[in-house]
Amino acid sequence: MSASIVTTEVQAAETAQPIVSVKADPEVNGTKPKVRRAIDEEGGNTTAKYPHYLPVWNHGEKYPPLRPFEHVDHGKDADPSFKDLLLAGSTIEHLTPLTGSEVTGVQLSKLSNAGKDQLALLVAQRKVVAFRNQDLADLPIQEALDFGGYFGRHHIHPTSGAPEGYPEIHLVHKKGGGENINPVFANRNSTVSWHSDVTYENQPPGTTFLYIFDAPEVGGDTAFVNHVEAYNRLSEEFKQRLHGLKAIHSGYEQAENSRKQGGVIRREPVTSEHPLVRTHPATGEKGLFVNGGFTRSIVGLKKEESDAILNFLLTHIGRGIDYQARVRWRPGTVVVWDNRVTSHSAIVDWTTGERRHLARITPQAERPYETPYVAPSA
Ligand SMILES: [Fe+2]
Repeated sequence: MSASIVTTEVQAAETAQPIVSVKADPEVNGTKPKVRRAIDEEGGNTTAKYPHYLPVWNHGEKYPPLRPFEHVDHGKDADPSFKDLLLAGSTIEHLTPLTGSEVTGVQLSKLSNAGKDQLALLVAQRKVVAFRNQDLADLPIQEALDFGGYFGRHHIHPTSGAPEGYPEIHLVHKKGGGENINPVFANRNSTVSWHSDVTYENQPPGTTFLYIFDAPEVGGDTAFVNHVEAYNRLSEEFKQRLHGLKAIHSGYEQAENSRKQGGVIRREPVTSEHPLVRTHPATGEKGLFVNGGFTRSIVGLKKEESDAILNFLLTHIGRGIDYQARVRWRPGTVVVWDNRVTSHSAIVDWTTGERRHLARITPQAERPYETPYVAPSA
């Protein structure tokens, strides 16, 4: 690798707080280029299998605040038999009893609208579903976006790089190379960083897609946790206390982190107030809507009270391996999760220097809402 500019991507942008450290090229005298391209930083000669999906960071690219829009959840009226999704010859296998499934024999990009509706419902029910042998990565980027756009308005991430001309694509890219392995361990014991994506938005994402280009042969899995089950495990007394509470979700720290690391801020950061218990529009299930990436405080509580409850909830979610699932990436895999009722973490556990490169399509959903507590039937 050229000694002139070295980009290290730790804790890839899939995680809540992308850490991008840039060693400035002495020739540019510490001045940031207006447009940084990952491919240039590899000397223009990349080993990436999908170089047109490598990130470009354009410091001049700015977007206005997001405006409210009406979201239609396609899972709501979907046929629960999944007959247009799980076609003849397909297989579905559950990764764990409560969370996660793996499907073969379905080509997502070829689904009818009825099949897409059923996809939204299946993912809402299973929380995360891995589809193998997909062609999404091989389609023209616009076609991949057209597919994903069925599920909601595309989110443009405020601090990530994107393929040039496609700001709606969110990229996760951890480049190979021995010197780039896990400098995160200098300050942390673990790379696990549970979060739901961009919940600081007023209308955070719902049905969300992540597809792989390059992955380590072993390692770099993504873990998911089921927030409906996390809610269900609480005592009835505690559930009732949480109902009616709202929490502040903030994008300011992510933006500040990006600014400090020389990254981009494409849209000014925002905060949103969301209910702590959220109802899913398609399943009617209630889930804890709280995550370590962005939830900062509970409205109306004093700091110690808020911290105590949030710490309890996040610890509860983080240790819930009996309602979590872990997806192993293989070429052609598309993982679809429902960001309303899950959090996830990349697992940065490989030390081989292999590249991990993925793209996310991130349709936004409804503004989170809650429905009243219902006691279990006797
Ligand atoms: Fe994420």
